[in-house]
Amino acid sequence: MKVGVIGLGNMGENIALNLVRAGHEVTVYNRTKSKAEACVNAGAKLAQTPGDAAQGDVFLTMLSNDSAVESLVFGGADGIISRQAKQAIHVSMSTISPALSKRINDQSVEKGLSYLSAPVLGRPDVAQRGELIVMAAGKPELIEKCTPIFQAIGKKLHVVGEDPQQANVAKVAANFLISTMIESLGEAFALVTKAGVDRAKFCEMMAFDFFDSPVVQKYGKLIIDRNFDKGVFTVELQAKDTRLAADSARDLLCPMPFLSVLGDTFLSAMARGKGDLDPCAITDIIAENAGVKF
Ligand SMILES: NC(=O)c1ccc[n+]([C@@H]2O[C@H](COP(=O)([O-])OP(=O)(O)OC[C@H]3O[C@@H](n4cnc5c(N)ncnc54)[C@H](OP(=O)(O)O)[C@@H]3O)[C@@H](O)[C@H]2O)c1
Repeated sequence: MKVGVIGLGNMGENIALNLVRAGHEVTVYNRTKSKAEACVNAGAKLAQTPGDAAQGDVFLTMLSNDSAVESLVFGGADGIISRQAKQAIHVSMSTISPALSKRINDQSVEKGLSYLSAPVLGRPDVAQRGELIVMAAGKPELIEKCTPIFQAIGKKLHVVGEDPQQANVAKVAANFLISTMIESLGEAFALVTKAGVDRAKFCEMMAFDFFDSPVVQKYGKLIIDRNFDKGVFTVELQAKDTRLAADSARDLLCPMPFLSVLGDTFLSAMARGKGDLDPCAITDIIAENAGVKF
């Protein structure tokens, strides 16, 4: 298929490379052109504008946040929505607000254009291995057309609804669970540490024998190793996701008291200069509050 990838950050580059490897005809766009080098060397074509990358069968947007997606999609005559080819399906993979996703879908429908939402679970190393979990929502016939794309970049596709914004709600709810896991592991590690129990041993017991969960294994190890430096996923991104979940919770009248606590925890980490560290860096604050050092 002819596929465009708009946004070649830590996630988008790996996704584009997997699409090239799978034999798709890939066109890439990135605001900072130099970051497209690896994809171009692998065989992708370089588009000069986002609209130029929206001319094939399908194009993916994988950008930082609402404001990046909003500026590229609605950016006047050169905005994606003005230039998108009639046959091209826009697959929005960024973690953005359900409200923005709905707005893009509404305007796409009005213009007779196709839009799907398909945010992903998994960090850049998972994206590199082509093992992302894709949560898609949109018209079933559009999802079916895009399935070869999802197969090239992910290990599992879950269809969560027919309204695109449903996938965005599912994604922020999933990230809320990750945040609670990090906070809970940090608090439990602080408690056992205060009692003189080896927290690495406790972590192993929980991650492999009790929960047997890849998420607990991955985040538990990051916390035990204090491997927080220059995260490929960051406190700032997690704080953004927490805000998106809070907005959805407010819109849907769904009280989430733990979410409010986590919002403050990430804010506190940012105020302490930890914004560009891995979200697991919040456990340093938990340890400090308990008077222990991890
Ligand atoms: N990293 C993860 O572990 C992870 C996992 C799952 C989902 N996500 C989500 O996936 C999305 C991308 O994450 P990432 O880790 O790939 O982020 P990233 O490495 O920071 O890349 C961000 C991308 O957005 C572009 N961008 C930002 N602001 C822009 C603007 N105003 N105009 C045009 N382009 C702009 C950047 O272009 P430049 O290169 O020019 O700056 C870059 O291509 C985010 O929504 C994130 O929440 C991330």
